[in-house]
Amino acid sequence: MSSELRVENLRKIFPPTKGTPLAKAAIDDVSFTIAAGEIVVLLGPSGCGKTTTLRCVAGLEHPTSGRIAIGGTMYTDPQAGVLVPPRARNLGMVFQSYAVWPHMTVRQNVAYPLKARGVKRSEQAGLIEEALSLVELSAYADRPVTQLSGGQMQRVALARSMVYQPQILLLDEPLSNLDAQLRLRLRDDLRRIIKRVGLTALYVTHDQQEAVVLGDRIGVMRDGNLLQLAAPDELYNRPADIFVAGFTGASNVITGRLVSRDGVRGEVAVGSGETLIVRLAGGTAPGSAVSVALRPDNVLLEPASPGPNQFPGRVVSRNYQGTQTVYEVSVFGQTIEALEVGSSIRHAVDDTVTVALPAEVCWGYGAG
Ligand SMILES: Nc1ncnc2c1ncn2[C@@H]1O[C@H](COP(=O)(O)OP(=O)(O)OP(=O)(O)O)[C@@H](O)[C@H]1O
Ligand SMILES: [Mg+2]
Repeated sequence: MSSELRVENLRKIFPPTKGTPLAKAAIDDVSFTIAAGEIVVLLGPSGCGKTTTLRCVAGLEHPTSGRIAIGGTMYTDPQAGVLVPPRARNLGMVFQSYAVWPHMTVRQNVAYPLKARGVKRSEQAGLIEEALSLVELSAYADRPVTQLSGGQMQRVALARSMVYQPQILLLDEPLSNLDAQLRLRLRDDLRRIIKRVGLTALYVTHDQQEAVVLGDRIGVMRDGNLLQLAAPDELYNRPADIFVAGFTGASNVITGRLVSRDGVRGEVAVGSGETLIVRLAGGTAPGSAVSVALRPDNVLLEPASPGPNQFPGRVVSRNYQGTQTVYEVSVFGQTIEALEVGSSIRHAVDDTVTVALPAEVCWGYGAG
Protein backbone atom coordinates (compact mmCIF):
# COMPACT_ATOMS: atom_id res chain seq x y z
CA MET A 1 0.00 0.00 0.00
CA SER A 2 3.01 2.32 0.44
CA SER A 3 3.21 4.98 -2.19
CA GLU A 4 5.71 7.42 -3.60
CA LEU A 5 5.34 11.06 -2.56
CA ARG A 6 6.25 13.77 -5.04
CA VAL A 7 6.38 17.43 -3.99
CA GLU A 8 7.07 19.94 -6.75
CA ASN A 9 7.87 23.66 -6.42
CA LEU A 10 5.82 23.99 -3.25
CA ARG A 11 5.34 27.55 -2.08
CA LYS A 12 3.21 28.84 0.80
CA ILE A 13 2.71 32.48 1.60
CA PHE A 14 0.46 33.07 4.61
CA PRO A 15 -1.65 36.22 4.46
CA PRO A 16 -0.10 39.16 6.33
CA THR A 17 -1.11 39.48 9.97
CA LYS A 18 -0.86 42.28 12.52
CA GLY A 19 2.38 40.85 13.90
CA THR A 20 3.92 40.21 10.49
CA PRO A 21 2.54 42.87 8.13
CA LEU A 22 4.93 41.84 5.33
CA ALA A 23 3.98 38.45 3.91
CA LYS A 24 7.05 36.24 3.63
CA ALA A 25 7.08 32.79 2.08
CA ALA A 26 6.88 30.09 4.80
CA ILE A 27 7.90 27.58 2.12
CA ASP A 28 9.79 28.86 -0.87
CA ASP A 29 9.93 26.57 -3.89
CA VAL A 30 10.51 23.23 -2.17
CA SER A 31 10.75 20.08 -4.30
CA PHE A 32 11.52 16.51 -3.26
CA THR A 33 10.45 12.93 -3.89
CA ILE A 34 10.15 10.12 -1.34
CA ALA A 35 10.30 6.63 -2.82
CA ALA A 36 7.73 4.05 -1.70
CA GLY A 37 8.91 2.58 1.61
CA GLU A 38 11.51 5.29 2.20
CA ILE A 39 11.80 7.45 5.36
CA VAL A 40 12.71 11.09 4.70
CA VAL A 41 13.32 13.44 7.61
CA LEU A 42 12.96 17.20 7.26
CA LEU A 43 15.40 18.81 9.68
CA GLY A 44 15.74 22.48 10.51
CA PRO A 45 15.38 25.17 13.16
CA SER A 46 12.10 26.50 14.50
CA GLY A 47 10.07 28.38 11.91
CA CYS A 48 11.89 27.04 8.83
CA GLY A 49 8.70 25.58 7.33
CA LYS A 50 8.75 21.90 8.33
CA THR A 51 5.22 21.70 9.74
CA THR A 52 3.82 23.81 6.91
CA THR A 53 5.32 21.38 4.36
CA LEU A 54 3.85 18.41 6.22
CA ARG A 55 0.43 20.06 6.51
CA CYS A 56 0.41 20.78 2.79
CA VAL A 57 1.07 17.08 2.11
CA ALA A 58 -1.75 16.18 4.53
CA GLY A 59 -4.11 18.56 2.75
CA LEU A 60 -4.63 20.53 5.99
CA GLU A 61 -2.96 23.53 4.39
CA HIS A 62 -3.41 24.77 0.84
CA PRO A 63 -0.16 25.91 -0.76
CA THR A 64 0.00 29.14 -2.74
CA SER A 65 1.46 27.19 -5.65
CA GLY A 66 3.15 23.89 -6.45
CA ARG A 67 1.98 20.31 -6.80
CA ILE A 68 1.77 17.25 -4.56
CA ALA A 69 1.23 13.76 -5.97
CA ILE A 70 0.94 10.54 -3.98
CA GLY A 71 1.29 7.22 -5.73
CA GLY A 72 1.08 9.00 -9.09
CA THR A 73 -2.28 10.67 -8.29
CA MET A 74 -2.37 14.46 -8.08
CA TYR A 75 -3.72 15.54 -4.67
CA THR A 76 -2.74 19.19 -4.61
CA ASP A 77 -2.49 21.43 -7.65
CA PRO A 78 -4.03 24.83 -6.88
CA GLN A 79 -3.37 26.13 -10.44
CA ALA A 80 -5.56 23.32 -11.79
CA GLY A 81 -8.08 23.66 -8.96
CA VAL A 82 -7.13 20.27 -7.47
CA LEU A 83 -7.20 20.14 -3.65
CA VAL A 84 -8.18 16.70 -2.35
CA PRO A 85 -9.44 16.97 1.28
CA PRO A 86 -7.34 15.36 4.06
CA ARG A 87 -9.67 12.41 4.76
CA ALA A 88 -9.60 11.35 1.11
CA ARG A 89 -5.78 11.15 1.04
CA ASN A 90 -5.49 8.02 3.17
CA LEU A 91 -2.51 9.27 5.19
CA GLY A 92 -1.47 8.43 8.72
CA MET A 93 -0.50 11.31 10.99
CA VAL A 94 1.29 11.45 14.34
CA PHE A 95 1.85 14.74 16.11
CA GLN A 96 3.81 16.09 19.05
CA SER A 97 0.81 16.04 21.38
CA TYR A 98 -0.60 12.59 22.11
CA ALA A 99 -3.73 12.91 20.04
CA VAL A 100 -5.52 9.95 21.63
CA TRP A 101 -9.13 9.85 22.75
CA PRO A 102 -8.96 10.06 26.56
CA HIS A 103 -12.32 8.40 27.24
CA MET A 104 -11.45 5.24 25.28
CA THR A 105 -9.33 2.15 25.86
CA VAL A 106 -6.22 1.43 23.81
CA ARG A 107 -8.15 -0.97 21.57
CA GLN A 108 -11.02 1.47 21.06
CA ASN A 109 -8.55 4.18 20.06
CA VAL A 110 -6.94 1.96 17.46
CA ALA A 111 -10.35 0.75 16.24
CA TYR A 112 -11.64 4.26 15.74
CA PRO A 113 -10.17 5.01 12.29
CA LEU A 114 -11.32 1.60 11.03
CA LYS A 115 -14.91 2.33 12.12
CA ALA A 116 -14.72 5.81 10.60
CA ARG A 117 -13.62 4.24 7.31
CA GLY A 118 -16.37 1.64 7.40
CA VAL A 119 -13.98 -1.34 7.54
CA LYS A 120 -15.99 -4.55 8.06
CA ARG A 121 -16.19 -5.66 11.70
CA SER A 122 -14.85 -9.10 10.77
CA GLU A 123 -11.68 -7.52 9.38
CA GLN A 124 -11.19 -5.04 12.23
CA ALA A 125 -10.00 -7.41 14.96
CA GLY A 126 -7.08 -8.78 12.94
CA LEU A 127 -5.87 -5.33 11.88
CA ILE A 128 -6.09 -4.03 15.46
CA GLU A 129 -4.16 -7.00 16.89
CA GLU A 130 -1.48 -6.58 14.25
CA ALA A 131 -1.08 -2.84 14.94
CA LEU A 132 -0.98 -3.34 18.72
CA SER A 133 1.57 -6.10 18.48
CA LEU A 134 3.73 -3.93 16.22
CA VAL A 135 3.94 -1.21 18.89
CA GLU A 136 4.16 -3.85 21.65
CA LEU A 137 0.95 -2.85 23.39
CA SER A 138 -1.09 -6.06 22.97
CA ALA A 139 -1.07 -6.58 26.75
CA TYR A 140 -2.53 -3.11 27.28
CA ALA A 141 -5.42 -3.38 24.79
CA ASP A 142 -8.19 -2.99 27.37
CA ARG A 143 -6.59 -0.27 29.47
CA PRO A 144 -7.99 3.26 29.40
CA VAL A 145 -5.37 5.37 27.60
CA THR A 146 -5.27 7.78 30.54
CA GLN A 147 -3.51 5.02 32.50
CA LEU A 148 -0.57 4.90 30.10
CA SER A 149 2.83 6.62 30.13
CA GLY A 150 3.65 9.30 27.58
CA GLY A 151 5.66 6.87 25.49
CA GLN A 152 2.86 4.30 25.53
CA MET A 153 0.32 6.95 24.53
CA GLN A 154 2.49 7.95 21.62
CA ARG A 155 2.68 4.28 20.57
CA VAL A 156 -1.13 4.17 20.65
CA ALA A 157 -1.17 7.23 18.39
CA LEU A 158 1.26 5.44 16.08
CA ALA A 159 -0.79 2.23 16.03
CA ARG A 160 -3.90 4.29 15.31
CA SER A 161 -2.23 6.07 12.40
CA MET A 162 -1.01 2.82 10.85
CA VAL A 163 -3.91 0.42 11.45
CA TYR A 164 -5.74 1.35 8.24
CA GLN A 165 -2.58 0.86 6.15
CA PRO A 166 -2.15 4.43 4.94
CA GLN A 167 -0.28 5.32 1.75
CA ILE A 168 2.10 7.56 3.68
CA LEU A 169 2.85 8.19 7.35
CA LEU A 170 3.40 11.82 8.40
CA LEU A 171 5.10 12.46 11.75
CA ASP A 172 5.60 15.93 13.24
CA GLU A 173 8.07 15.91 16.15
CA PRO A 174 6.33 12.87 17.69
CA LEU A 175 8.99 12.43 20.39
CA SER A 176 9.43 15.97 21.64
CA ASN A 177 7.01 15.66 24.58
CA LEU A 178 8.80 12.62 26.00
CA ASP A 179 11.61 12.63 28.53
CA ALA A 180 15.15 12.16 27.21
CA GLN A 181 15.49 8.43 27.94
CA LEU A 182 12.12 7.48 26.50
CA ARG A 183 12.82 9.64 23.46
CA LEU A 184 15.94 7.63 22.65
CA ARG A 185 14.16 4.31 23.03
CA LEU A 186 11.10 5.23 21.00
CA ARG A 187 13.34 6.78 18.35
CA ASP A 188 14.94 3.40 17.66
CA ASP A 189 11.56 1.63 17.90
CA LEU A 190 9.96 4.02 15.42
CA ARG A 191 12.38 3.24 12.63
CA ARG A 192 12.07 -0.49 13.23
CA ILE A 193 8.24 -0.32 13.22
CA ILE A 194 8.00 1.87 10.12
CA LYS A 195 10.50 -0.33 8.27
CA ARG A 196 8.77 -3.54 9.27
CA VAL A 197 5.52 -2.32 7.70
CA GLY A 198 7.44 -0.82 4.78
CA LEU A 199 5.65 2.50 5.07
CA THR A 200 6.63 5.63 3.18
CA ALA A 201 7.26 8.21 5.87
CA LEU A 202 7.81 11.96 6.08
CA TYR A 203 9.20 12.82 9.51
CA VAL A 204 9.76 16.33 10.79
CA THR A 205 12.16 17.30 13.60
CA HIS A 206 14.68 19.88 14.73
CA ASP A 207 16.77 17.19 16.45
CA GLN A 208 19.85 16.31 14.43
CA GLN A 209 20.43 12.98 16.19
CA GLU A 210 16.84 11.91 15.64
CA ALA A 211 17.15 12.72 11.95
CA VAL A 212 20.33 10.68 11.56
CA VAL A 213 18.94 7.60 13.31
CA LEU A 214 15.53 7.65 11.62
CA GLY A 215 16.05 8.89 8.09
CA ASP A 216 17.04 7.01 4.96
CA ARG A 217 17.59 10.54 3.71
CA ILE A 218 17.60 13.89 5.51
CA GLY A 219 16.46 17.20 4.06
CA VAL A 220 17.91 20.24 5.81
CA MET A 221 15.62 23.27 5.71
CA ARG A 222 16.23 26.92 6.45
CA ASP A 223 13.91 29.89 5.97
CA GLY A 224 11.48 27.94 3.80
CA ASN A 225 14.20 26.49 1.58
CA LEU A 226 15.38 22.90 1.26
CA LEU A 227 19.17 23.28 1.28
CA GLN A 228 20.25 19.67 0.83
CA LEU A 229 18.49 16.32 0.70
CA ALA A 230 20.87 13.39 1.08
CA ALA A 231 21.70 10.19 2.94
CA PRO A 232 22.92 10.89 6.51
CA ASP A 233 26.55 9.96 5.80
CA GLU A 234 26.65 12.14 2.70
CA LEU A 235 25.27 15.05 4.70
CA TYR A 236 27.95 14.52 7.35
CA ASN A 237 30.81 14.00 4.91
CA ARG A 238 29.85 16.38 2.09
CA PRO A 239 27.58 19.15 3.39
CA ALA A 240 26.57 21.29 0.40
CA ASP A 241 26.10 24.47 2.39
CA ILE A 242 27.77 26.10 5.40
CA PHE A 243 24.46 26.07 7.27
CA VAL A 244 24.15 22.31 6.66
CA ALA A 245 27.76 21.91 7.80
CA GLY A 246 26.90 23.77 11.00
CA PHE A 247 23.86 21.58 11.53
CA THR A 248 26.02 18.45 11.33
CA GLY A 249 28.29 19.78 14.07
CA ALA A 250 30.92 21.69 12.07
CA SER A 251 30.91 24.51 14.60
CA ASN A 252 34.36 25.86 13.73
CA VAL A 253 34.32 28.52 11.03
CA ILE A 254 37.71 29.67 9.75
CA THR A 255 37.66 32.74 7.51
CA GLY A 256 40.05 33.48 4.68
CA ARG A 257 40.45 34.32 1.02
CA LEU A 258 40.67 31.83 -1.83
CA VAL A 259 44.11 32.09 -3.45
CA SER A 260 43.79 29.38 -6.08
CA ARG A 261 41.71 26.34 -6.92
CA ASP A 262 42.13 23.07 -8.79
CA GLY A 263 38.74 21.41 -9.11
CA VAL A 264 37.40 21.03 -5.57
CA ARG A 265 40.83 21.55 -3.99
CA GLY A 266 41.35 25.14 -2.87
CA GLU A 267 44.17 27.09 -1.23
CA VAL A 268 42.88 29.59 1.29
CA ALA A 269 44.99 32.37 2.84
CA VAL A 270 43.99 32.32 6.50
CA GLY A 271 46.42 34.51 8.41
CA SER A 272 49.89 35.95 8.45
CA GLY A 273 51.13 34.29 5.26
CA GLU A 274 49.60 30.91 6.05
CA THR A 275 47.69 28.76 3.61
CA LEU A 276 45.02 26.17 4.39
CA ILE A 277 44.17 23.51 1.82
CA VAL A 278 40.41 22.90 1.73
CA ARG A 279 37.75 20.99 -0.14
CA LEU A 280 35.51 23.51 -1.94
CA ALA A 281 31.78 22.87 -2.02
CA GLY A 282 30.69 25.46 -4.61
CA GLY A 283 31.95 27.44 -7.59
CA THR A 284 33.87 30.02 -5.56
CA ALA A 285 36.36 32.05 -7.64
CA PRO A 286 39.93 32.88 -6.55
CA GLY A 287 40.04 36.23 -4.75
CA SER A 288 36.70 35.59 -2.99
CA ALA A 289 36.15 35.49 0.75
CA VAL A 290 35.77 31.91 1.97
CA SER A 291 34.36 30.40 5.18
CA VAL A 292 35.82 27.03 6.10
CA ALA A 293 33.64 24.79 8.30
CA LEU A 294 35.29 22.11 10.40
CA ARG A 295 34.08 19.74 13.12
CA PRO A 296 35.98 19.94 16.45
CA ASP A 297 36.58 16.17 16.37
CA ASN A 298 38.43 16.62 13.06
CA VAL A 299 40.94 19.06 14.58
CA LEU A 300 44.03 17.08 15.60
CA LEU A 301 46.46 18.29 18.26
CA GLU A 302 50.01 16.91 18.16
CA PRO A 303 49.65 14.66 15.06
CA ALA A 304 51.90 11.60 14.92
CA SER A 305 53.81 12.66 11.81
CA PRO A 306 54.43 15.95 9.99
CA GLY A 307 52.21 16.67 6.98
CA PRO A 308 50.28 19.36 5.10
CA ASN A 309 47.82 21.68 6.87
CA GLN A 310 49.81 21.66 10.12
CA PHE A 311 50.26 24.90 12.04
CA PRO A 312 51.74 26.04 15.34
CA GLY A 313 49.02 26.77 17.90
CA ARG A 314 48.46 27.53 21.57
CA VAL A 315 45.90 26.06 23.97
CA VAL A 316 43.63 28.85 25.19
CA SER A 317 41.17 26.90 27.33
CA ARG A 318 40.31 23.37 28.34
CA ASN A 319 36.94 21.83 29.16
CA TYR A 320 37.29 18.31 30.56
CA GLN A 321 34.03 16.35 30.19
CA GLY A 322 35.01 12.91 31.52
CA THR A 323 34.96 10.88 28.32
CA GLN A 324 36.14 13.73 26.10
CA THR A 325 37.95 17.05 26.36
CA VAL A 326 37.22 20.19 24.35
CA TYR A 327 40.17 22.55 23.86
CA GLU A 328 40.08 26.04 22.45
CA VAL A 329 43.22 26.63 20.45
CA SER A 330 44.57 29.77 18.86
CA VAL A 331 45.97 29.10 15.41
CA PHE A 332 46.94 31.61 12.63
CA GLY A 333 45.26 34.38 14.63
CA GLN A 334 41.88 32.59 14.82
CA THR A 335 40.39 30.53 17.64
CA ILE A 336 38.93 27.08 16.98
CA GLU A 337 37.79 24.12 19.06
CA ALA A 338 39.40 20.68 19.13
CA LEU A 339 37.68 17.66 20.63
CA GLU A 340 39.74 14.74 21.91
CA VAL A 341 37.94 11.52 22.85
CA GLY A 342 39.08 9.57 25.93
CA SER A 343 39.33 10.19 29.63
CA SER A 344 42.97 11.34 29.67
CA ILE A 345 43.97 15.00 29.59
CA ARG A 346 46.77 15.51 27.08
CA HIS A 347 47.30 19.29 26.96
CA ALA A 348 47.36 22.19 29.39
CA VAL A 349 46.33 25.81 28.94
CA ASP A 350 49.17 27.85 27.35
CA ASP A 351 50.82 24.70 25.89
CA THR A 352 52.26 25.14 22.43
CA VAL A 353 50.80 22.47 20.14
CA THR A 354 50.87 21.46 16.50
CA VAL A 355 47.39 21.74 15.02
CA ALA A 356 46.54 19.51 12.03
CA LEU A 357 43.45 20.28 9.94
CA PRO A 358 42.95 17.42 7.43
CA ALA A 359 42.10 18.98 4.05
CA GLU A 360 39.28 16.56 3.20
CA VAL A 361 37.29 17.66 6.27
CA CYS A 362 37.94 21.39 5.83
CA TRP A 363 34.89 22.37 3.78
CA GLY A 364 35.20 25.72 2.04
CA TYR A 365 32.15 27.79 1.07
CA GLY A 366 31.91 31.17 -0.65
CA ALA A 367 31.28 33.76 2.06
CA GLY A 368 29.24 36.01 -0.26
N1 LIG B 1 -1.25 29.86 10.18
C1 LIG B 1 -0.20 30.65 9.99
N2 LIG B 1 -0.34 31.97 9.71
C2 LIG B 1 0.71 32.78 9.50
N3 LIG B 1 1.99 32.35 9.53
C3 LIG B 1 2.21 31.05 9.80
C4 LIG B 1 1.14 30.13 10.06
N4 LIG B 1 1.67 28.90 10.30
C5 LIG B 1 3.01 29.06 10.22
N5 LIG B 1 3.34 30.33 9.92
C6 LIG B 1 4.70 30.85 9.71
O1 LIG B 1 5.35 30.08 8.72
C7 LIG B 1 6.71 29.83 9.07
C8 LIG B 1 6.97 28.33 9.09
O2 LIG B 1 6.24 27.76 10.18
P1 LIG B 1 6.27 26.19 10.49
O3 LIG B 1 5.25 25.95 11.54
O4 LIG B 1 6.15 25.45 9.24
O5 LIG B 1 7.73 26.02 11.10
P2 LIG B 1 8.44 24.74 11.70
O6 LIG B 1 9.67 24.52 10.90
O7 LIG B 1 7.48 23.63 11.82
O8 LIG B 1 8.88 25.25 13.15
P3 LIG B 1 8.89 24.49 14.58
O9 LIG B 1 10.18 23.69 14.61
O10 LIG B 1 8.93 25.61 15.56
O11 LIG B 1 7.67 23.64 14.69
C9 LIG B 1 6.95 30.53 10.38
O12 LIG B 1 7.56 31.77 10.13
C10 LIG B 1 5.56 30.70 10.95
O13 LIG B 1 5.49 31.83 11.78
MG1 LIG C 1 6.63 22.61 13.46
